Amino acid sequence: MAGAQVEVRGVWHTFPGKGGGLRVLEDVSLDVRPGEFVSIVGPSGCGKSTILRMLAGLLAPGTGDVLVGGASVGGVPGRVAYMPQRDLLLPWRKALGNAALGAEIGGMDGGRAREKARALFGRFGLVGFEEMWPSQLSGGMRQRLALLRTFLIDRDVLLLDEPFGALDAITRREMQGWLQEVWQADGRTVLFVTHDVEEALVLSDRVVVMTSRPGRIAVVVDVGMARPRGVADVVTPEFSRLKAELLAALEQRSG
Ligand SMILES: Nc1ncnc2c1ncn2[C@@H]1O[C@H](COP(=O)(O)OP(=O)(O)OP(=O)(O)O)[C@@H](O)[C@H]1O
Ligand SMILES: [Mg+2]
Repeated sequence: MAGAQVEVRGVWHTFPGKGGGLRVLEDVSLDVRPGEFVSIVGPSGCGKSTILRMLAGLLAPGTGDVLVGGASVGGVPGRVAYMPQRDLLLPWRKALGNAALGAEIGGMDGGRAREKARALFGRFGLVGFEEMWPSQLSGGMRQRLALLRTFLIDRDVLLLDEPFGALDAITRREMQGWLQEVWQADGRTVLFVTHDVEEALVLSDRVVVMTSRPGRIAVVVDVGMARPRGVADVVTPEFSRLKAELLAALEQRSG
Protein backbone atom coordinates (compact mmCIF):
# COMPACT_ATOMS: atom_id res chain seq x y z
CA MET A 1 0.00 0.00 0.00
CA ALA A 2 1.35 3.43 -0.93
CA GLY A 3 2.29 5.48 2.12
CA ALA A 4 2.23 2.56 4.55
CA GLN A 5 4.75 2.80 7.36
CA VAL A 6 4.79 -0.94 7.98
CA GLU A 7 4.03 -3.54 5.33
CA VAL A 8 3.89 -7.30 5.28
CA ARG A 9 3.59 -8.45 1.69
CA GLY A 10 2.54 -11.98 0.80
CA VAL A 11 4.61 -13.66 3.49
CA TRP A 12 4.78 -17.45 3.75
CA HIS A 13 7.06 -19.03 6.30
CA THR A 14 8.02 -22.57 7.28
CA PHE A 15 10.44 -23.35 10.09
CA PRO A 16 12.73 -26.25 9.23
CA GLY A 17 12.06 -29.58 10.90
CA LYS A 18 10.82 -33.12 10.45
CA GLY A 19 8.22 -33.92 7.78
CA GLY A 20 8.75 -30.80 5.71
CA GLY A 21 9.01 -28.50 8.70
CA LEU A 22 6.44 -26.40 10.49
CA ARG A 23 4.38 -24.13 8.27
CA VAL A 24 3.63 -21.07 10.37
CA LEU A 25 2.47 -18.29 8.03
CA GLU A 26 0.46 -18.55 4.82
CA ASP A 27 0.09 -15.59 2.53
CA VAL A 28 0.02 -12.93 5.24
CA SER A 29 -0.31 -9.33 4.07
CA LEU A 30 -1.03 -6.32 6.23
CA ASP A 31 -0.13 -2.67 6.39
CA VAL A 32 -0.01 0.02 9.03
CA ARG A 33 -0.29 3.69 8.09
CA PRO A 34 1.88 6.36 9.67
CA GLY A 35 0.59 7.18 13.17
CA GLU A 36 -1.85 4.30 13.15
CA PHE A 37 -2.32 1.81 16.00
CA VAL A 38 -2.95 -1.70 14.67
CA SER A 39 -3.31 -4.85 16.75
CA ILE A 40 -2.87 -8.46 15.76
CA VAL A 41 -4.91 -11.04 17.66
CA GLY A 42 -4.84 -14.77 17.07
CA PRO A 43 -4.53 -18.14 18.78
CA SER A 44 -1.29 -19.14 20.46
CA GLY A 45 1.26 -20.38 17.95
CA CYS A 46 -0.36 -18.79 14.88
CA GLY A 47 2.75 -16.75 14.07
CA LYS A 48 2.14 -13.31 15.63
CA SER A 49 5.57 -13.04 17.23
CA THR A 50 7.11 -14.44 14.06
CA ILE A 51 5.69 -11.50 12.09
CA LEU A 52 7.09 -9.00 14.60
CA ARG A 53 10.49 -10.71 14.55
CA MET A 54 10.54 -10.37 10.76
CA LEU A 55 9.71 -6.66 10.96
CA ALA A 56 12.38 -6.24 13.63
CA GLY A 57 14.90 -7.73 11.20
CA LEU A 58 15.59 -10.80 13.33
CA LEU A 59 14.16 -13.35 10.89
CA ALA A 60 13.87 -13.27 7.11
CA PRO A 61 10.54 -14.37 5.62
CA GLY A 62 10.58 -17.58 3.57
CA THR A 63 8.59 -16.00 0.75
CA GLY A 64 7.34 -12.44 0.45
CA ASP A 65 8.73 -9.31 1.99
CA VAL A 66 8.42 -7.05 5.02
CA LEU A 67 8.96 -3.30 4.72
CA VAL A 68 9.37 -0.42 7.14
CA GLY A 69 9.10 3.14 5.87
CA GLY A 70 8.74 1.84 2.32
CA ALA A 71 12.03 -0.08 2.30
CA SER A 72 12.57 -3.80 2.68
CA VAL A 73 13.86 -4.72 6.14
CA GLY A 74 16.13 -7.30 4.53
CA GLY A 75 16.82 -9.19 7.75
CA VAL A 76 18.70 -6.23 9.24
CA PRO A 77 17.71 -5.16 12.79
CA GLY A 78 17.48 -1.60 14.01
CA ARG A 79 14.79 0.01 11.87
CA VAL A 80 12.08 -0.16 14.55
CA ALA A 81 11.72 -0.02 18.31
CA TYR A 82 10.81 -3.57 19.30
CA MET A 83 9.60 -4.93 22.62
CA PRO A 84 9.84 -8.73 22.59
CA GLN A 85 7.27 -10.94 24.28
CA ARG A 86 9.40 -11.38 27.41
CA ASP A 87 10.59 -8.19 29.09
CA LEU A 88 14.30 -9.14 28.98
CA LEU A 89 15.45 -6.71 31.65
CA LEU A 90 19.07 -7.21 32.64
CA PRO A 91 19.19 -8.21 36.34
CA TRP A 92 22.60 -6.58 36.81
CA ARG A 93 21.48 -3.15 35.63
CA LYS A 94 19.36 -0.87 37.78
CA ALA A 95 16.06 0.45 36.42
CA LEU A 96 17.61 3.56 34.88
CA GLY A 97 20.40 1.55 33.25
CA ASN A 98 17.89 -0.90 31.83
CA ALA A 99 15.74 1.93 30.50
CA ALA A 100 18.70 3.45 28.67
CA LEU A 101 19.86 0.17 27.16
CA GLY A 102 17.91 0.16 23.89
CA ALA A 103 18.90 3.73 23.07
CA GLU A 104 22.54 2.93 23.88
CA ILE A 105 22.49 -0.09 21.59
CA GLY A 106 20.94 2.19 18.98
CA GLY A 107 24.05 4.36 19.19
CA MET A 108 23.13 7.04 21.75
CA ASP A 109 25.84 8.06 24.20
CA GLY A 110 25.33 6.33 27.60
CA GLY A 111 25.03 9.52 29.63
CA ARG A 112 22.60 11.09 27.20
CA ALA A 113 20.52 7.90 27.09
CA ARG A 114 20.23 7.89 30.89
CA GLU A 115 19.31 11.56 30.93
CA LYS A 116 16.54 10.99 28.37
CA ALA A 117 15.39 7.87 30.22
CA ARG A 118 15.24 9.73 33.54
CA ALA A 119 13.03 12.37 31.97
CA LEU A 120 10.52 9.67 30.97
CA PHE A 121 10.23 7.98 34.38
CA GLY A 122 7.39 10.33 35.36
CA ARG A 123 5.34 9.63 32.27
CA PHE A 124 5.74 5.90 32.86
CA GLY A 125 4.82 6.05 36.55
CA LEU A 126 8.27 5.03 37.74
CA VAL A 127 9.60 8.14 39.50
CA GLY A 128 11.62 7.19 42.57
CA PHE A 129 12.50 3.74 41.24
CA GLU A 130 15.43 4.75 39.04
CA GLU A 131 18.02 3.10 41.28
CA MET A 132 16.08 -0.12 41.98
CA TRP A 133 17.11 -3.50 40.60
CA PRO A 134 14.60 -5.25 38.32
CA SER A 135 14.03 -7.87 41.05
CA GLN A 136 12.78 -5.09 43.35
CA LEU A 137 10.05 -4.00 40.92
CA SER A 138 6.53 -5.41 40.58
CA GLY A 139 5.49 -7.21 37.38
CA GLY A 140 3.61 -4.14 36.14
CA MET A 141 6.57 -1.88 36.85
CA ARG A 142 8.91 -4.21 35.00
CA GLN A 143 6.65 -4.12 31.97
CA ARG A 144 6.39 -0.33 32.12
CA LEU A 145 10.17 -0.17 32.33
CA ALA A 146 10.55 -2.44 29.30
CA LEU A 147 8.03 -0.27 27.48
CA LEU A 148 9.86 2.92 28.50
CA ARG A 149 13.06 1.42 27.15
CA THR A 150 11.29 0.68 23.86
CA PHE A 151 9.78 4.19 23.65
CA LEU A 152 13.20 5.70 24.18
CA ILE A 153 14.50 4.09 21.01
CA ASP A 154 14.18 6.86 18.49
CA ARG A 155 12.25 5.13 15.70
CA ASP A 156 8.95 5.95 14.01
CA VAL A 157 7.62 2.43 14.44
CA LEU A 158 6.94 0.57 17.70
CA LEU A 159 6.40 -3.19 17.69
CA LEU A 160 4.95 -4.37 21.00
CA ASP A 161 4.54 -8.10 21.59
CA GLU A 162 1.98 -8.72 24.35
CA PRO A 163 3.43 -5.99 26.56
CA PHE A 164 0.69 -6.48 29.20
CA GLY A 165 0.49 -10.25 28.97
CA ALA A 166 1.68 -10.95 32.50
CA LEU A 167 -0.53 -8.42 34.28
CA ASP A 168 -3.69 -8.77 36.36
CA ALA A 169 -6.90 -7.29 34.95
CA ILE A 170 -6.84 -4.07 36.97
CA THR A 171 -3.22 -3.20 36.24
CA ARG A 172 -3.82 -4.13 32.64
CA ARG A 173 -6.66 -1.62 32.35
CA GLU A 174 -4.50 1.08 33.90
CA MET A 175 -1.73 0.31 31.47
CA GLN A 176 -4.10 0.43 28.50
CA GLY A 177 -5.33 3.88 29.52
CA TRP A 178 -1.83 5.00 30.02
CA LEU A 179 -0.54 3.57 26.71
CA GLN A 180 -3.32 5.38 24.84
CA GLU A 181 -2.23 8.68 26.42
CA VAL A 182 1.42 8.10 25.67
CA TRP A 183 0.70 7.01 22.10
CA GLN A 184 -1.63 9.96 21.43
CA ALA A 185 1.00 12.40 22.69
CA ASP A 186 3.72 10.61 20.77
CA GLY A 187 2.25 10.14 17.28
CA ARG A 188 4.25 7.04 16.40
CA THR A 189 3.09 4.04 14.44
CA VAL A 190 2.29 1.00 16.59
CA LEU A 191 1.88 -2.67 15.74
CA PHE A 192 0.67 -4.41 18.89
CA VAL A 193 0.20 -8.12 19.55
CA THR A 194 -2.31 -9.36 22.11
CA HIS A 195 -4.50 -12.38 22.92
CA ASP A 196 -7.13 -10.12 24.40
CA VAL A 197 -9.81 -8.87 21.99
CA GLU A 198 -11.08 -6.27 24.47
CA GLU A 199 -7.58 -4.86 24.80
CA ALA A 200 -7.24 -4.75 21.03
CA LEU A 201 -10.55 -2.87 20.71
CA VAL A 202 -9.71 -0.36 23.42
CA LEU A 203 -6.34 0.48 21.88
CA SER A 204 -6.56 0.09 18.13
CA ASP A 205 -7.59 1.89 14.98
CA ARG A 206 -7.74 -1.50 13.29
CA VAL A 207 -7.59 -5.08 14.53
CA VAL A 208 -6.14 -7.87 12.41
CA VAL A 209 -7.43 -11.34 13.30
CA MET A 210 -5.34 -14.37 12.41
CA THR A 211 -6.42 -17.99 12.11
CA SER A 212 -4.79 -20.82 14.02
CA ARG A 213 -1.50 -22.14 12.58
CA PRO A 214 -0.65 -21.91 9.81
CA GLY A 215 -1.59 -18.30 10.40
CA ARG A 216 -3.55 -16.46 7.75
CA ILE A 217 -5.41 -13.17 8.04
CA ALA A 218 -9.02 -14.03 8.84
CA VAL A 219 -10.39 -10.48 8.93
CA VAL A 220 -9.39 -6.87 9.54
CA VAL A 221 -11.81 -4.85 11.65
CA ASP A 222 -11.96 -1.04 11.74
CA VAL A 223 -12.57 0.43 15.19
CA GLY A 224 -14.18 3.82 14.78
CA MET A 225 -14.95 4.56 18.43
CA ALA A 226 -13.87 7.93 19.86
CA ARG A 227 -10.70 8.15 21.98
CA PRO A 228 -9.58 7.92 24.65
CA ARG A 229 -11.50 4.71 25.31
CA GLY A 230 -12.04 3.25 28.73
CA VAL A 231 -14.21 1.08 30.93
CA ALA A 232 -17.39 2.92 29.91
CA ASP A 233 -16.81 2.08 26.24
CA VAL A 234 -16.44 -1.62 26.91
CA VAL A 235 -20.15 -1.94 27.76
CA THR A 236 -21.52 -0.07 24.73
CA PRO A 237 -23.50 -1.89 21.99
CA GLU A 238 -20.89 -0.84 19.40
CA PHE A 239 -18.10 -2.40 21.46
CA SER A 240 -20.11 -5.62 21.92
CA ARG A 241 -20.80 -5.81 18.19
CA LEU A 242 -17.12 -5.44 17.31
CA LYS A 243 -16.11 -7.92 20.00
CA ALA A 244 -18.55 -10.50 18.63
CA GLU A 245 -17.16 -9.96 15.14
CA LEU A 246 -13.60 -10.52 16.36
CA LEU A 247 -14.50 -13.59 18.40
CA ALA A 248 -16.33 -15.11 15.43
CA ALA A 249 -13.29 -14.51 13.21
CA LEU A 250 -11.05 -16.13 15.83
CA GLU A 251 -13.08 -19.34 15.55
CA GLN A 252 -12.03 -19.74 11.93
CA ARG A 253 -9.53 -22.48 11.26
CA SER A 254 -6.79 -22.14 8.72
CA GLY A 255 -7.10 -24.19 5.57
N1 LIG B 1 12.88 -20.27 15.66
C1 LIG B 1 11.90 -21.18 15.56
N2 LIG B 1 12.15 -22.44 15.13
C2 LIG B 1 11.16 -23.34 14.99
N3 LIG B 1 9.87 -23.09 15.28
C3 LIG B 1 9.56 -21.86 15.71
C4 LIG B 1 10.55 -20.83 15.88
N4 LIG B 1 9.95 -19.70 16.31
C5 LIG B 1 8.65 -20.00 16.42
N5 LIG B 1 8.41 -21.29 16.07
C6 LIG B 1 7.11 -21.95 16.01
O1 LIG B 1 6.29 -21.19 15.15
C7 LIG B 1 4.96 -21.12 15.65
C8 LIG B 1 4.56 -19.68 15.77
O2 LIG B 1 5.30 -19.08 16.83
P1 LIG B 1 5.01 -17.60 17.30
O3 LIG B 1 5.91 -17.35 18.45
O4 LIG B 1 5.08 -16.69 16.15
O5 LIG B 1 3.49 -17.72 17.76
P2 LIG B 1 2.56 -16.64 18.47
O6 LIG B 1 1.37 -16.44 17.60
O7 LIG B 1 3.35 -15.45 18.85
O8 LIG B 1 2.10 -17.44 19.78
P3 LIG B 1 1.83 -16.90 21.29
O9 LIG B 1 0.50 -16.24 21.23
O10 LIG B 1 1.81 -18.17 22.10
O11 LIG B 1 2.94 -15.98 21.65
C9 LIG B 1 4.95 -21.89 16.96
O12 LIG B 1 4.44 -23.18 16.72
C10 LIG B 1 6.41 -21.95 17.34
O13 LIG B 1 6.70 -23.13 18.04
MG1 LIG C 1 3.96 -14.65 20.58
